[in-house]
Amino acid sequence: MAEPLSPETIAIVKATAPVLQKHGLEITTRMYERLFVDPEIKALFDQAEQASGAQPKRLAAAILAYAKNVDNLAAFGPSVERMAERHVATHVKPEHYPAVANALLPAIKDVLGDAVDQRILDAWGEAYWFLADIMIGRETQIYDQAA
Ligand code: HEM
Repeated sequence: MAEPLSPETIAIVKATAPVLQKHGLEITTRMYERLFVDPEIKALFDQAEQASGAQPKRLAAAILAYAKNVDNLAAFGPSVERMAERHVATHVKPEHYPAVANALLPAIKDVLGDAVDQRILDAWGEAYWFLADIMIGRETQIYDQAA
């Protein structure tokens, strides 16, 4: 189980969530440009789109929306369940999570520039991994049940 987020991290993420959401489309677009440089990662989404026609942009939108509930994660429980099921259906694995972090955090910096400093990026990184650990835990359970 992950360490709880520090009060400082929670405060930073909540304070910066509105500006990230305001630039959400730009940030998500930039994030996918960075993410899809890796063909293995891109293939996960291509298959998913063929199967459902759904927009992968929901992934980044969800991460930005999560920030608003970072101090009330119980409210996020049903979303975690839906995302975990979708991830298992599209073969997302724990080893894919660093790629999303490594695309999202630089995308935030690319778009917001001097408006974000290292302290803010570190807080978002911590918050990302806190959620990622919860998702990975639930996805592992679903994979194990299916095996
Ligand atoms: C904390 C991190 C993540 C969050 C919050 C998240 C969130 C989401 C959400 C909200 C959806 C849409 C679910 C729905 O259809 O209702 C989704 C789908 C998906 N995610 Fe994630 N995700 C995360 C990490 C990842 C990672 C690491 C990968 C793999 C690189 C990934 C790949 C996908 C794929 C392939 C889909 C299906 C896309 C589609 O339906 O077209 N996600 N994710």
